[in-house]
Amino acid sequence: MKADTNRLSRRTLLKWGLGYVGLLSGGHISSSSLAEMLNGPTPRQSLGPFFPDEGDPIDAIRENPAPGIPISQANDQDLTFVKGRQGKAKGQVIYLRGKVLSAKTGQAIPRTVIIMWSASASGRYNHKEDDGMLSFPHPTTGEIIHRTYDGYFQYWGRAVTNEHGDYWFKTIVPGFYPIDLESGLYRPSHLHFQLLPPAQPKLVTQLYFRGDQIPNNALNQELLPKDVVILDAGLTPKEQERVIVDYAPDTSGEMSDGLVGHYDFVIPG
Ligand SMILES: [Fe+2]
Repeated sequence: MKADTNRLSRRTLLKWGLGYVGLLSGGHISSSSLAEMLNGPTPRQSLGPFFPDEGDPIDAIRENPAPGIPISQANDQDLTFVKGRQGKAKGQVIYLRGKVLSAKTGQAIPRTVIIMWSASASGRYNHKEDDGMLSFPHPTTGEIIHRTYDGYFQYWGRAVTNEHGDYWFKTIVPGFYPIDLESGLYRPSHLHFQLLPPAQPKLVTQLYFRGDQIPNNALNQELLPKDVVILDAGLTPKEQERVIVDYAPDTSGEMSDGLVGHYDFVIPG
């Protein structure tokens, strides 16, 4: 147990790479064609401190053992189990599907590598530095939440868009988690993404959740407008809406074990 378990380590805070430290110290944070038809490009947001680089994970899950592949790209697009392990990830199953489009041309972008990573259903990352505030009271109900490592959750995955620019992921809804209990700061449930289109700069962003069946839906909606990443990215209310995905039960019958959300990433020009 670390000495200061009520907030992330300073090193981790710095790794957020944003004005978060400024927020804690009372600093001011600004909240200030075809792409428009598509509701504008997907806003950029920070990478966060828990991207799975080599040596960072607690459990270095690598479904693809081929050498030379970064660990962040060594797993497939179904995060609800780990190949070779007899169990399922805890949490509400979801499917996220859509396209990757170019804001410049409006065209779909085939062969875009999408890396997605997130916390477990209880809000714990598979990352050595996610080691503080492992138990905390739910801000609404007071119930003690234990942020635990889930050995059956794949934690990060990789999808590649097909010739129509389509992608899909299957995963679980990650838990919201505290970033500073003294200040009452929590991050709403979110998925992290890094998109690597073949001929355009990469896009780093995060997507959020909404839906009657999303765990802690009301709390998540409350947390969104005061989220440090959203504030630091300076997202307008419209841009904020642009990164919230609505999830609902499947009506096609193909994905009856989960909720389904649709999101088209639009790579800024
Ligand atoms: Fe995160």
